[in-house]
Parts: sequence; structure tokens; C-alpha cells
Amino acid sequence: MPIKQSQIFVEGEGDSYFQRNQNSMESTTDQYSIEKLIDSLSPFKSNIQQILEIGCSTGIKLHRLCEFFDANGLGIDPSRKAIEAGNQENKKEARENVRLQVGTADILPLEDQSMDLVFFGFCLYLLDRSDIFKAIAEADRVLKPGGFIAILDFDPNGRSKNHYSHKAGIYSYKNAYADFFTASGHYYLMSKHSMSHANTFFASDNYERVALQILYKEHDAY
Ligand SMILES: C[S@@+](CC[C@H](N)C(=O)[O-])C[C@H]1O[C@@H](n2cnc3c(N)ncnc32)[C@H](O)[C@@H]1O
Repeated sequence: MPIKQSQIFVEGEGDSYFQRNQNSMESTTDQYSIEKLIDSLSPFKSNIQQILEIGCSTGIKLHRLCEFFDANGLGIDPSRKAIEAGNQENKKEARENVRLQVGTADILPLEDQSMDLVFFGFCLYLLDRSDIFKAIAEADRVLKPGGFIAILDFDPNGRSKNHYSHKAGIYSYKNAYADFFTASGHYYLMSKHSMSHANTFFASDNYERVALQILYKEHDAY
């Protein structure tokens, strides 16, 4: 059986991503997407006290969310170096409410129904296909009814599998990830903001499309 992609990230590709991107973590679309997430969820501010980011790298976005919502945050990422750098920064800035931990999306170190917001920021497209349902199930397991899932990822009209340009043997997978949740009937797509990596508006080029999608977990799923 081929080595799993999540293992490749744990064993070094997560660190390589961090090293390649540590000086460019805050692009315009990164900032725009977090502002949109905050705007969309601000009416529910008092309900959002526990936030999880899966694939958090150094946790820059998680920190912003926790700051706005005055919430506790947990970030999970396979990169030991990104987690150490993020935790050091949190310590330096005395951010006691944000904690980062090495881990992967398929097994979350959390109690059932313990989170109010689960955020996947450009993470699902990197997961092994054999882990995708585990990651979806884990996010659902840890989210409280009445909570939110936010997915920032590529937004193709269709699916594609592409070679990951930074390492041979790894693939990235563009897919309509919000549909995995809404197809169950347990989630409602409450908002979608289309953009691209270059701009804060919709891209007519299918390959360039990115979206922030926010899902609400129904209280009475049936
Ligand atoms: C493109 S970066 C996004 C970082 C951050 N969420 C953001 O939006 O800026 C993808 C992150 O996903 C992490 N990652 C890769 N495989 C993962 C897995 N199986 N579980 C959780 N995170 C993973 C990588 O280490 C990397 O930090």
C-alpha cells in the first residue's frame, strides 16, 4: 500500500509548507476571507466560544477569529515546526486562549459536540481520498448542533486531481466539499463568498475559483 499523504505531511511536507510560506501567510484573499467569515458570523458572536481550525499552520487565522469572537481556539496541523512557531508567538503575545497541537484531520483530540465553529482553511484539498470521509465525520462529531463549519478552499465547477507542485507523489484534489455536509440534510449552506487567490471577487476561470462557504449544523437533523 502506498504511503499516506497525511503521513508525508507529518514526516516533513507540513514543515516544508511552513518554511515556504512563513513570510507570506497574509495575502489579500486570506485577510478578505477571514473578514467575510467574521462578518457572516458576527450576529452569532455570543454563541461562538470554542473554535477549532484543522490544518492551521501557525494559527494566524485562528488567532484573528479568537480575538474577534473572544473565544478559545485549538489549531491542529501535521507540521511540528509550524505548531512550535505558532505556540511561541502565542506565548510571546500572552494569548492564553489559543493552543496549537500536532495532529491530522482524520483523528481529532476532542470530545463529541465540544466546538462552536470548525474551520478548514485550504486543508481538505490536501487530504488522502481514503481520509476524506473520516475528516468530514470527525468535524461533524466535534461540532455542537447549532454550530458552524467554515470551508475556505478551491471551488471548481466539477472535480479534479492534480499533481502537488512541491513534492512528487502528492496530489491535490479540488472538490465541492460543502456538498459532503449539505447532502446529509444535517447542514444548511448559510453563505458563500466567491473569490480567487488574486482577487476578492468571483473568477470566471473555473481553475482559479476559491470560495468561503459557511455551513450551519441543524439542531434537529432527521
Ligand atoms: C495551504 S495550508 C493552509 C494553512 C491555513 N489553514 C491557512 O488557511 O492559511 C494547508 C495546511 O494543511 C496542513 N495539512 C496537510 N495535511 C493535513 C491533514 N491530513 N490534516 C490536517 N492538516 C493537514 C498542512 O500542513 C498545511 O499547514
